[in-house]
Amino acid sequence: MNNFSFYNPTKIHFGAGQIQTLKDEIPADAKILIVYGGGSIKKNGIFDQVTDALEGKTFLEFGGIEPNPHYETCLKAVELIKTENIDFLLAVGGGSVIDATKFIAAAAQYDGNPWEIIETFGSAVKGALPIGCVLTLAATGSEMNPTSVVTRAETQDKLFFNSDHVRPLFSVLDPKTTYSLPAKQVANGVVDSYVHVLEQYITYPVNAKVQDRFSESLLSTILEEGPKALKEPENYDVRANLMWSATQALNGLLSTGVPGDWATHLIGQVLTGFYGLDHGQTLAIVMPAVWTYKVEQKKQKLVQYGQRVLNIQETDQDLIAHQAIEKTRTFFEEMGIATRLSDYNLDETIIAGVIEKLEAYQFVQLGEHADITPTDVAEILKLAL
Ligand code: NZQ
Ligand code: ZN
Repeated sequence: MNNFSFYNPTKIHFGAGQIQTLKDEIPADAKILIVYGGGSIKKNGIFDQVTDALEGKTFLEFGGIEPNPHYETCLKAVELIKTENIDFLLAVGGGSVIDATKFIAAAAQYDGNPWEIIETFGSAVKGALPIGCVLTLAATGSEMNPTSVVTRAETQDKLFFNSDHVRPLFSVLDPKTTYSLPAKQVANGVVDSYVHVLEQYITYPVNAKVQDRFSESLLSTILEEGPKALKEPENYDVRANLMWSATQALNGLLSTGVPGDWATHLIGQVLTGFYGLDHGQTLAIVMPAVWTYKVEQKKQKLVQYGQRVLNIQETDQDLIAHQAIEKTRTFFEEMGIATRLSDYNLDETIIAGVIEKLEAYQFVQLGEHADITPTDVAEILKLAL
């Protein structure tokens, strides 16, 4: 096991009815900005639950955060914060709303050009407004981590930053809020959380038994519960298990002391930036291709996953590794997410542009061995056609 430092200060209020805890979590004298997306919270009753819990407190609202949130929209929220002297941000939504809120919180206290927050991957951030979250989509883990991903629409750059200053103070996770999700977003969330575990697990062994078995428990849970969420959208236990799995998948615990891959995520971000594919869709396309390309280096962990999680009964290691890749692809497809670029009307002509962006970002040494170069990415994308 590698050395690590672990820190996660976000308080979680989990379960039905927990939106009520906003009453006590947000200071009485705070001037709050409720940040939300395209309006789903106004149709499914979540906005009303939030405003009931905020009764007696001062709040304004800022809606219109896009999926894959735009930098340009975030800057409008920053203006409002400055004119209204807002001092507390409450994100109500999925990963996009929470990520946007993190960027807004940092930008509101940043003196220079706010794009520097992204250019420095967050190291320029020296402070941020306090953030609370009401999560409505189980997927990203943003509710309990220091990461934010924003897109500059003008240049199609989708990039992330990390800062401890933007960790949510608290997050409310009420599984019932996810009942109203469209099937496609349920599937995206299942694929995203599953892939988060895999990015930290399908690398090479470092004898990290706790992390490995923790990963395997999350993978088994998501495999079992994901398809049920599509069939029984209002099954509370299914939603609860998925929601907690998604949070645990990317709250820093799994990555302690182990190598991480993340090539799939970094390539996927470029695909979303250019073509608007959902985050979950990009992962379902790219991950089987990365694994196929890197099967020799990843074989030991693919075999462990194949045997312990997917219950593959073969004895030949190569066969187990290949079956593990194909069974993972099948799981994504069973969730309703297509796994080939051609399924999204994309062909080999996209490859040059993706490589150009990765080079511009200096993402030229990807994967757990930092050995996936732009030339390798081209080969990986050919495998994904
Ligand atoms: O905009 P609204 O009206 O809220 O509708 C959203 C949106 O259209 C809808 N939705 C959310 N909750 C709902 C609901 N509809 C009905 N009922 C509900 N309860 O779902 C749509 C997608 O929402 P979005 O927030 O975009 O989805 P998700 O949570 O999957 O977030 C994706 C974003 O997070 C980033 C992705 O790159 C992408 O930009 N990620 C953030 C990470 C992080 N901060 O750590 C890590 C991830 O790897 C990921 O990159
Ligand atoms: Zn993700």
